[in-house]
Amino acid sequence: MRIILLGAPGAGKGTQSTRILDKYAIPYISTGDIFRKEVLKDTDFGKEIQRYIDKGLLVPDHITLEIVQERLSQDDCKDNYLLDGFPRTVLQAKMFDEIVLDTKNPVQVVINLDIKEDLLIERLTGRQICRTCGSIYHKVNKPSHVEGICDKCGSKLVEREDDKIENVRVRLREYNNRTKPLISFYRKKGLLVNIDASQDADVIFEEISKILEGLQ
Ligand code: AP5
Ligand code: MG
Repeated sequence: MRIILLGAPGAGKGTQSTRILDKYAIPYISTGDIFRKEVLKDTDFGKEIQRYIDKGLLVPDHITLEIVQERLSQDDCKDNYLLDGFPRTVLQAKMFDEIVLDTKNPVQVVINLDIKEDLLIERLTGRQICRTCGSIYHKVNKPSHVEGICDKCGSKLVEREDDKIENVRVRLREYNNRTKPLISFYRKKGLLVNIDASQDADVIFEEISKILEGLQ
């Protein structure tokens, strides 16, 4: 199955991706995760990306597209992929159409996690992540059993630099100006399914599962 998860920062794309991957072992491409790994390598490339991410700005399209094109052209993405956080601009979406036209693996469904902005701020400013295994927590909604320690792998939990309130505001502005237009872009193509992302994560996943069962 070939899926795009669309949604504002904090809508729950990462949380739902984990659940999808637990059920269906398919290649997962999160541009945010890829960029954060590059930043940790402390290379010149990583430093360039960090200048955008830490401030909450989108990384330039040409950089993002090169990384995704390279990953999507690998054999394991021929029949299946889950894209989280890509595409994020209309240019990325149009270029993505061309990439998958070449590789003959077009997207089958675009799931839009729809949610109001005030809930997003609460979710992002309370988030903690594990850099080792990628697990996502929330200080109130989904606390780890031992404070500050990952349940899955025992590593220390950290907060993302871009989850500081001033950076969250920039991310939401970027989302509204540059990513939100993708909702109508994919609706016009008949690929969009909206889900109310303010619901409990388990309920959201049940709705996603029903959609994905229809693809098999
Ligand atoms: P990215 O990592 O993709 O961040 P994002 O889109 O801002 O989304 P988030 O990861 O913040 O939120 P999420 O939807 O995954 O929510 P989560 O499940 O964690 O991108 C980061 C940066 O990289 C960008 O700002 C940009 O600079 C760059 N970038 C990435 N892709 C790019 C692209 N294509 N082009 C250009 N630049 C790009 O959940 C959030 C919190 O809420 C957690 O604490 C979680 O526990 C909690 N939560 C989740 N679901 C629920 C629920 N149902 N109920 C209650 N709490 C919940
Ligand atoms: Mg995420």
